[in-house]
Amino acid sequence: MSENKFDVVVIGAGPAGYPAAIRAAQNGLSVACVDSWENRDGTRAFGGTCLNAGCIPSKALLESTELFHRAETEFKEHGISVKDLILDLGKMQNRKQKIVKELTGGIEALFRSNGVASFFGRGRLISDNRVEVKNPDGQVLSLTANHIILATGSIPIELSSAPFDHEFIVDSWGALDFTSVPKKLGIVGAGVIGLELGSVWQRLGSEVVMIEAFESFLPMADEQIAKEAHRSFKRQGLDICLASKLTDAVIKDDGVALTFESTNGLTTLEVDKVIVCVGRKPFTDGLLASEVKVSLDANGFIEVDEHCRTNVSGVWAVGDVVRGPMLAHKGMDEGIMVADLIAGKTSEMNYEAIPSVIYTSPEIAWIGKTEAEVRGTGRPYKTGTFNFSANGRAKGMGQTQGLVKVVTAESDDELLGVHIMGPMAGELIAEAVLAMEFSGSGEDIQRICHAHPTLSEAVHEAALAADGRAVHAINR
Ligand code: NAI
Repeated sequence: MSENKFDVVVIGAGPAGYPAAIRAAQNGLSVACVDSWENRDGTRAFGGTCLNAGCIPSKALLESTELFHRAETEFKEHGISVKDLILDLGKMQNRKQKIVKELTGGIEALFRSNGVASFFGRGRLISDNRVEVKNPDGQVLSLTANHIILATGSIPIELSSAPFDHEFIVDSWGALDFTSVPKKLGIVGAGVIGLELGSVWQRLGSEVVMIEAFESFLPMADEQIAKEAHRSFKRQGLDICLASKLTDAVIKDDGVALTFESTNGLTTLEVDKVIVCVGRKPFTDGLLASEVKVSLDANGFIEVDEHCRTNVSGVWAVGDVVRGPMLAHKGMDEGIMVADLIAGKTSEMNYEAIPSVIYTSPEIAWIGKTEAEVRGTGRPYKTGTFNFSANGRAKGMGQTQGLVKVVTAESDDELLGVHIMGPMAGELIAEAVLAMEFSGSGEDIQRICHAHPTLSEAVHEAALAADGRAVHAINR
């Protein structure tokens, strides 16, 4: 067993771990990063779920399939006729893989240029300053460090009623790699992943049925936005069965028979494939040797304080493996905060200003509190909304569905929440994040000059509407 000494060892090179390693190296520390990600073809890559099997490949497919769908349904309106529109799924998948490869290769290059030593294998915390790395050939390497950052991420939750066979019943990773378009696709869980992947395959021709346990649609989003989104997805053809619980999934020769329970009793549905996306759980299997006393909470998350310190001095944990929303950008910011704290710099996270985005069409994005949450606090508030149907740029783009909603405090105009459903909502939300991070008010957004004609004018108008001053809408 060879011994390697570093200032910092990071276990996990996903979106929480790799930025932590890079920032620690930028801070002049000697850094190693350990990762065991292996693709289904046996290739190894940095980037974790986000780059290899999540955010990046899904966004590539969302873009391709949206273009296909628009060519099929909207081009005519622009005076463009397309003869013989043909889907080449193989080529679409290759494009996706190329993007993934370029980005994961980019992390390797960044590690090299920043002097981060990388190790392939499963990392295990042996003590507060030692990590053992076992590679698939059985070789074991020991790394010691003053600081160890655990960033091992999360894995999909498996349902006992529908265990993954990875051919007919797949997780979100499997659903990105279908080689043909399923004629009928069942999706268990109408959350973020279900809606994004349901959109991908529905646009390519799948008949999609979603089985969702909750009675309300997207309960974490603002109610008004969730209602609009529900209507829009139903119009697009997603069959969303709410208050429905999967009870059984039986794999047959060429598909799966799903049974679910709702107020109508038991329903059976035959589908070609099933995607189970009912949430993710923290991944700590084999990570902590029994002598290591790092505490986990009741749900298996590594317990940390607001600075991502575990209960063991010198051991930190960031990303999906700790409390908070399972979002790549939250993990990224935590990783960078920890790398700065280790280097003796001041750093902190504002957990109140983390945006959420669902990359459907239209996109949905929000920051801060929903109207119902604000109402629940008892604090008097104002709301302003503005529809994209009255926005010139949205009209030009032919993407007029949706609205912006701004929630501000009645007393001092504090910006409490911004909720968007519409074109590029995931980009537009950045203005609201900045405003909230700077403790901005509704009036601050009202007074900022927004370029014309842009989608961002809808955010401006919604802020104006909260005070009955929208210019391009009738104020109520
Ligand atoms: P999720 O928590 O967003 O949705 C899971 C859904 O499954 C929930 O609505 C839940 O009610 C439902 N469900 C649970 N058990 C069920 C059952 N037995 N039958 C029917 N429905 C059931 O989880 P999801 O979509 O799997 O995503 C996992 C994590 O990854 C989330 O934390 C999400 O934020 C993150 N993610 C974020 C993305 C983004 O930011 N755009 C993209 C993909 C994932």
